[in-house]
Amino acid sequence: MVPPKASSRFIILLSFIMLGSLTNPCKGEHGGGRGEAGDAGRGVFVFGSSLVDNGNNNFLPEPGVRADYAPYGLDFPAGPSGRFSNGKNPVDALAELLKLPGRVPPFLDPTTTGDRILHGVNYASGGSGILDETRPTRGTVISLNQQISNFERVTLPQLTTQLGRHGGRHSAELHKYLFVVGTGGNDYLLNYYLGGVANTVSLQDFTALLTSTFVSQLKKLHGLGARKFVLLSVQPIGCVPVVKALLHAANGSCVEAINEAALLFNRNLSSLVDNMGQQMPGSHLVYVNSYTIITDIIQNPTQRGFTETSLGCCETSPTNGNGVLCKKEGRVCEDRHAYVFFDGLHPTEAVNLRIAEKAYGSPRKDEAYPINVKQLLRRGL
Ligand SMILES: *[C@@H]1O[C@H](CO)[C@@H](O)[C@H](O)[C@H]1NC(C)=O
Ligand SMILES: *[C@@H]1O[C@H](CO)[C@@H](O)[C@H](O)[C@H]1NC(C)=O
Repeated sequence: MVPPKASSRFIILLSFIMLGSLTNPCKGEHGGGRGEAGDAGRGVFVFGSSLVDNGNNNFLPEPGVRADYAPYGLDFPAGPSGRFSNGKNPVDALAELLKLPGRVPPFLDPTTTGDRILHGVNYASGGSGILDETRPTRGTVISLNQQISNFERVTLPQLTTQLGRHGGRHSAELHKYLFVVGTGGNDYLLNYYLGGVANTVSLQDFTALLTSTFVSQLKKLHGLGARKFVLLSVQPIGCVPVVKALLHAANGSCVEAINEAALLFNRNLSSLVDNMGQQMPGSHLVYVNSYTIITDIIQNPTQRGFTETSLGCCETSPTNGNGVLCKKEGRVCEDRHAYVFFDGLHPTEAVNLRIAEKAYGSPRKDEAYPINVKQLLRRGL
């Protein structure tokens, strides 16, 4: 088990997520080209933690959990943007596979209004989790409940107007969007282990609470009109550099007790995909097993084109993020394509691209279950 005391040292962020995005590359019955009526109502709404945050935390008050400085964004065209990686996150990569006309804008960016929301909005916030109590010890985050509320109160009325203007009927159009949710890792790392909940609550009970809370959050989205869901698993959190370092996994092996927590939750998540269909009429769900996709790289690095599976690429800072976040202007590895992790917690772009490719097109049920995103796009049209 994890010593809860170790906890107070790493406090900051652990967020997990993944992202997603998408739009249907096939033209609908309206037939139009990009930007015409046939494209309206095709996009991605993204919810979750730092694995899919694309800049929302930049707009929260300091001190916060941010990745808006070098070396973050080293391989991203716009440089540091708030994404917790050297380049694209999995949602960026998925949006490209979906041929969305541009990047999905972050909700808190003041320019995310008007027709910029037509292809979706990203609400994710680094350091957040499923539970409202999940947050880093310092700094503000946007909880998943608040993210959903932002979609409901701010975006939905604007979207209704925009879709009407573009010739769509709101509810029918909303059914075409993908709702990508990637969260849960911070609930374990920040809340259960670091927050000391582990002292009083069993892992099973905590997982049951996370699951039931998550189910009501999905139902809330369904009630608002969401029909196509892409759920990202929790990563192998026992394998991330900060957890290995804190728990002195000296020989480089993953901390299996922490991975077990992720597996408990992920098993529930994949069974949700089997049962939520009846509870949410008309819905279609895809479970993206990023846990397995990342673990496969860690176990077969050479075959997958990686060499460093244990150390993060950037120099981390004990004062900024307690071993999770890169040090500002700190050292960075040369061959970022060969590293699994960019900082103490978050995957490199190379891994994110692989997750998005698998989510989009993998025929393997241990990667995208029970169908992949490409197949999801064709459902219920
Ligand atoms: C989820 O997993 C936990 C523990 O593994 C279990 O106790 C709980 O009943 C599960 N919940 C659902 C909805 O499957
Ligand atoms: C690493 O440590 C773990 C736990 O102490 C042990 O089970 C495992 O065999 C070790 N691996 C190697 C390669 O030494």
